Amino acid sequence: MRGLPIWIVLSLVLFSFFSTQCTIGEEIFLEWHVDEDNNIKPISVDQPVITINGKFPGPLLNATTNDNIHVNVFNDMDKYPILITWNGIQLRHNSWQDGVSGTNCAIQPNTNWTYEFQLKDQIGSFFYFPSINYEKAGGGFGPIRVSNRVVVQTPFADPEGDFDLLIGDWYKDSFKVIGDKLAHEGYNKTPNMMLMNGKGSYLDPKAKSNASFKVNQGKTYRLRISNVGSEWSFNFRIENHSMLLVETEGSYTNQIALNSLDVHVGQSYSVLVTADQDAADYYIVATAKMANTTQLRTLEVVGVLHYENSTKPADGPLPNGPDPFDVNFSINQARSIRWNLTTGAARPNPQGSFNVSNVTLSQTFVLQNSVNYENGMMKYAINNVSYATPQTPLKLADYYLNGAGVYELDKFPANGSLREAVYGTFVVSGEHGEWLEIVFKNELHVMDSWHLDGFGFFVVYPKGWTAVYVYLDNPGMWNLRSQKLKSWFLGQELYIRVYDSDPNPAKEHFPPKNLLYCGSVQAPPSAPPPSPEPEPVPGPLAPVPPAPAVPASTITTKTQWFHVIVAIFVILII
Ligand SMILES: *[C@@H]1O[C@H](CO)[C@@H](O)[C@H](O)[C@H]1NC(C)=O
Ligand SMILES: *[C@@H]1O[C@H](CO)[C@@H](O)[C@H](O)[C@H]1NC(C)=O
Ligand SMILES: *[C@@H]1O[C@H](CO)[C@@H](O)[C@H](O)[C@H]1NC(C)=O
Ligand SMILES: *[C@@H]1O[C@H](CO)[C@@H](O)[C@H](O)[C@H]1NC(C)=O
Ligand SMILES: *[C@@H]1O[C@H](CO)[C@@H](O)[C@H](O)[C@H]1NC(C)=O
Ligand SMILES: *[C@@H]1O[C@H](CO)[C@@H](O)[C@H](O)[C@H]1NC(C)=O
Ligand SMILES: *[C@@H]1O[C@H](CO)[C@@H](O)[C@H](O)[C@H]1NC(C)=O
Ligand SMILES: *[C@@H]1O[C@H](CO)[C@@H](O)[C@H](O)[C@H]1NC(C)=O
Ligand SMILES: *[C@@H]1O[C@H](CO)[C@@H](O)[C@H](O)[C@H]1NC(C)=O
Ligand SMILES: *[C@@H]1O[C@H](CO)[C@@H](O)[C@H](O)[C@H]1NC(C)=O
Ligand SMILES: *[C@@H]1O[C@H](CO)[C@@H](O)[C@H](O)[C@H]1NC(C)=O
Ligand SMILES: *[C@@H]1O[C@H](CO)[C@@H](O)[C@H](O)[C@H]1NC(C)=O
Repeated sequence: MRGLPIWIVLSLVLFSFFSTQCTIGEEIFLEWHVDEDNNIKPISVDQPVITINGKFPGPLLNATTNDNIHVNVFNDMDKYPILITWNGIQLRHNSWQDGVSGTNCAIQPNTNWTYEFQLKDQIGSFFYFPSINYEKAGGGFGPIRVSNRVVVQTPFADPEGDFDLLIGDWYKDSFKVIGDKLAHEGYNKTPNMMLMNGKGSYLDPKAKSNASFKVNQGKTYRLRISNVGSEWSFNFRIENHSMLLVETEGSYTNQIALNSLDVHVGQSYSVLVTADQDAADYYIVATAKMANTTQLRTLEVVGVLHYENSTKPADGPLPNGPDPFDVNFSINQARSIRWNLTTGAARPNPQGSFNVSNVTLSQTFVLQNSVNYENGMMKYAINNVSYATPQTPLKLADYYLNGAGVYELDKFPANGSLREAVYGTFVVSGEHGEWLEIVFKNELHVMDSWHLDGFGFFVVYPKGWTAVYVYLDNPGMWNLRSQKLKSWFLGQELYIRVYDSDPNPAKEHFPPKNLLYCGSVQAPPSAPPPSPEPEPVPGPLAPVPPAPAVPASTITTKTQWFHVIVAIFVILII
């Protein structure tokens, strides 16, 4: 690999932020009721869809940096526990609120639990989704917008309006059937439909409704596009309209004009679109990458950009995109996207760049994806290790039991694949303030995308690799996973424990007062947190459930933020 000739700096992003005073945002209280709805039938098929407050996609979480968010989630589903995770939100010093099986006990049916976290240092577009039991394939996702404080300028004029476009693939089967089959007998179908904001394609006569966005001629709009799917990357474009890329994953980018944009699973982008054409209706198209949509028309979803006073419905041929198999297009586009280091972003006073050419790496992880078959059942692995989800969330095990009996610390094969497949619960570790290098090797002929909760997002092209430097500035237990749902569900997951020996809540928060207990952490400990009478209720549930506990009361955590430095250095090699 060292011999490969082409080194491409995908993005070199550094920012440091020294905050000497604590900035308090607003308190935002939300109440979300999660339920199933069998009547939505987005593709006219009988299947349960997960709604929040009756909506699919779920309601917008709209906030400003520094705001404290309180989301009281009521699980009104009959049988399925849930957890909601905040994709791309860094949850600074607070992995207790991350909402994945390694950090939280699930919210059991007919109970509620309040997430409480502060938004920091990020401005832009994200989404949330349910992280366990394959529920993401049934919905339960929704948009997140984080706005700048008024004192921080945006590098573009205020748009006339904002639209959230949650686009992703969709299965004809119920998420329950898929999760169950994957866990017990195997399931090898891939999703073969696409939805835009929970709606089918404008060109699909069977779709009950389609996504339509109203614009006024001459005005500019911000489209916040996320790939909320399970499997397919897509190419996004709008007939006869150019797009100006301005933001990704909570940071402003150097602005570039695009005719089409590739969005991989889990990614979010903002583009500005000016309604500068004749008053008519125009197609908005998202087409799966690495699929021939001439043969598989259903992997293409079409919506409509509708001008006020338009008299002409969208018709005729769809706008052409790049060849879906042209990986070079995608790589070149990704290479051209860079963070704008001179704009205000979330930082009141950008400190300029930080020179990473002389960083001392504490560890290098070479992570290789693979698929194994075991008695006909598929298992996805990293370095031939498939993650086994324990009954006790790792974060609780770490805090109360020092990991004992739940996970193995630093035994993960960090440099390449094991010859024999292993199924187990491993945690790798790093010290607060250290630098890690992570190399993702993709030996498979598919796109892969990875997410490190609390830090960042990485795409790995087929038969390629991506190296990232991660500055461990965010203590906690952080989930590193394939964003592709099946790969994740079948084992492509690992946790990184970022450790600081100083028990200072400015470095890492204490457990929240309403902490749920489950698995082997049942009794409230005498040490922090002071815990109000939890009543543990045992009883595992299918397919990935930690045992339940009854929720207690909530508190508001106000945090002081000192000295935050984040640096990510991404190199892509083809
Ligand atoms: C979202 O919040 C921003 C900033 O407070 C506000 O300007 C905007 O109107 C809000 N949007 C919606 C849809 O609530
Ligand atoms: C459950 O909701 C009630 C209010 O409806 C709230 O008082 C309580 O704190 C919530 N429980 C948790 C664990 O968040
Ligand atoms: C698309 O949705 C609009 C309403 O939003 C509806 O009037 C129209 O008939 C739909 N078009 C198709 C082709 O289904
Ligand atoms: C739409 O037509 C009405 C009536 O002719 C006019 O008042 C309005 O300004 C038009 N809107 C736009 C965006 O052109
Ligand atoms: C888009 O542009 C093409 C070529 O300029 C033109 O033929 C077509 O009519 C336009 N589409 C609409 C809906 O105006
Ligand atoms: C970066 O942001 C600055 C400040 O808003 C702006 O002046 C500059 O044009 C931006 N650069 C690019 C390439 O978009
Ligand atoms: C897609 O399939 C069509 C019809 O089978 C074929 O003509 C076309 O060449 C294929 N396109 C690609 C990019 O493979
Ligand atoms: C992609 O680029 C590489 C070198 O940059 C080239 O060898 C290869 O032929 C290109 N592939 C396609 C499909 O254009
Ligand atoms: C970064 O630091 C290295 C040495 O550590 C130095 O050679 C290089 O010139 C520096 N780069 C910048 C842009 O300051
Ligand atoms: C790199 O950093 C080390 C200590 O961290 C220092 O001793 C060394 O001189 C630095 N090298 C360069 C080229 O700046
Ligand atoms: C990883 O293994 C390769 C050989 O497979 C070796 O060349 C390399 O030095 C190892 N790297 C680390 C960090 O141990
Ligand atoms: C993983 O282990 C299996 C046997 O358990 C072996 O067949 C396979 O080659 C290993 N995979 C890799 C990538 O080494």
